Amino acid sequence: MRLLITGASSGLGLALARALAAPGAELHLSGRDAARLEQAAEACRALGAVVRPMVLDVRDAAAMAAWVRSAGPLDLVIANAGISAGTGGSAGPGVPAGSGVSAGPGVPAESGAAPGLGEPPGQIRAIFATNLDGMLNTVLPALAVMAGQPPGADGVRGRIAVVASIAAFLAHPGAPSYCAAKAAADAWVVATAASARRQGIVLSSVCPGFVRTPMTAVNRFPMPGLMAPEHAAAIILRGVAAGHRRIAFPWWLAGGARLAGLLPPALLARLLAGAPAKPGLG
Ligand SMILES: NC(=O)c1ccc[n+]([C@@H]2O[C@H](COP(=O)([O-])OP(=O)(O)OC[C@H]3O[C@@H](n4cnc5c(N)ncnc54)[C@H](OP(=O)(O)O)[C@@H]3O)[C@@H](O)[C@H]2O)c1
Repeated sequence: MRLLITGASSGLGLALARALAAPGAELHLSGRDAARLEQAAEACRALGAVVRPMVLDVRDAAAMAAWVRSAGPLDLVIANAGISAGTGGSAGPGVPAGSGVSAGPGVPAESGAAPGLGEPPGQIRAIFATNLDGMLNTVLPALAVMAGQPPGADGVRGRIAVVASIAAFLAHPGAPSYCAAKAAADAWVVATAASARRQGIVLSSVCPGFVRTPMTAVNRFPMPGLMAPEHAAAIILRGVAAGHRRIAFPWWLAGGARLAGLLPPALLARLLAGAPAKPGLG
């Protein structure tokens, strides 16, 4: 098995890498933090896998394409890397949240506030650049690599899972860019899955609820159904193996988010007005 995972240096990506690490597995893992990525690689090597770590920013389209091509042929690709932030203000006193955040390597940080929007421009662009463009920078080269691979006995050339979120189902005023980027990722994957399947490639959109990772550790609001990353990884890998086009869990939270998403936007905004929002990017 040859596998490629982005955002494998932490949280859910690390749990997925560990769950897949076994003798006979070749894992291509990426993240930006070299030290944490090497720790993840060591943990997977200890489980018997051959591991090839790569320090890489998913926003760098050319570098991502070169990495994915060099890793092929590939049985499973998981586009997991992501960032999250909301309208909950800055991490530090006097620092406008996300004001110095750039949309990617070589892209200058966009300064200045967007008065009244709740999210500064730098944060909005960083979230879309990472969670949407970064996902496409992973999946598009992976589709090209897999299209050139011979199909297995089951007719499948390869599998690709994109980690979106239950946030895709609800335009939450406390996290506009995160919800929008995940909604776009989920819709694109689900809509593309039928044509990909005809090419022998199985595409899955993964929509988890709350998972206990560094991403959720900063949240100061109740997180119903919060689950361990190992539990989430097991659910995801079962769904991917079964070829599900959308893997949304826990089901009751996914269903609740879908129902809330049907409410008129003004009513939804009123109902959520008092809820604490996720902090902005530091
Ligand atoms: N935790 C949850 O409750 C939850 C729920 C639904 C969906 N998700 C999604 O699950 C995915 C993983 O999140 P997590 O909770 O495991 O968060 P996490 O612990 O913060 O891990 C995020 C991972 O993404 C990587 N990453 C972020 N920006 C990157 C970039 N520009 N280039 C390359 N790698 C980048 C990080 O690598 P470095 O730190 O090394 O840069 C890290 O490995 C995300 O897509 C997230 O939106 C999480």
